[in-house]
Amino acid sequence: MSPAIRVRPRRELAAARRRRAHRCWGHLVAAPLWPMHQANLGTLLRTCDAVGACLAVPPWRWVDEALARGNTLRQPSCVHRVGDPVRWLAAERASGAQVLGVELTDEAVRLADLPMARRRTIVVLGHEATGIPAEALDSLDAAVEIPMVGTGLSLNVAVAGSLVLYKLAGLT
Ligand SMILES: C[S@@+](CC[C@H](N)C(=O)[O-])C[C@H]1O[C@@H](n2cnc3c(N)ncnc32)[C@H](O)[C@@H]1O
Repeated sequence: MSPAIRVRPRRELAAARRRRAHRCWGHLVAAPLWPMHQANLGTLLRTCDAVGACLAVPPWRWVDEALARGNTLRQPSCVHRVGDPVRWLAAERASGAQVLGVELTDEAVRLADLPMARRRTIVVLGHEATGIPAEALDSLDAAVEIPMVGTGLSLNVAVAGSLVLYKLAGLT
């Protein structure tokens, strides 16, 4: 008897995917602008590929090395370097982008209430130990919080970013 649930083979999955990476500077940009752990960058890169987002990171050598090591994708994803986070976020807002912080803040929008992104949206992710720096909070249009019921104070940043990116992309 064959099982009721069939796992789709790799060849079938590959045929259903894009042939090339999505266009650069799409309408979603994941921005872990103060990263600490290498592994989180590789995880976020894969989520960006899956939802059609770009990744914006600081122009640091260890970040490039971490992305090269963590990149298991068939096609290179679009990665951009941001030298001065606060100035870049201000420029994005001035040009009409929505800047959303993924952070545990007062008056944050809960993930379930977050609508799909209808315009260019920058998804700002905090430092793994200290969150989004105070000087960048004024650059946000709003914050999104992922409710938690456990004992931990927060989620892993790549998990939090991935959940928000999926919601904004309208894929969940
Ligand atoms: C480990 S948390 C930072 C720790 C926390 N801000 C602190 O100071 O203890 C790293 C980042 O993951 C994201 N994050 C983690 N859990 C989250 C949640 N439940 N809702 C929204 N963002 C979250 C935020 O971007 C946060 O800055």
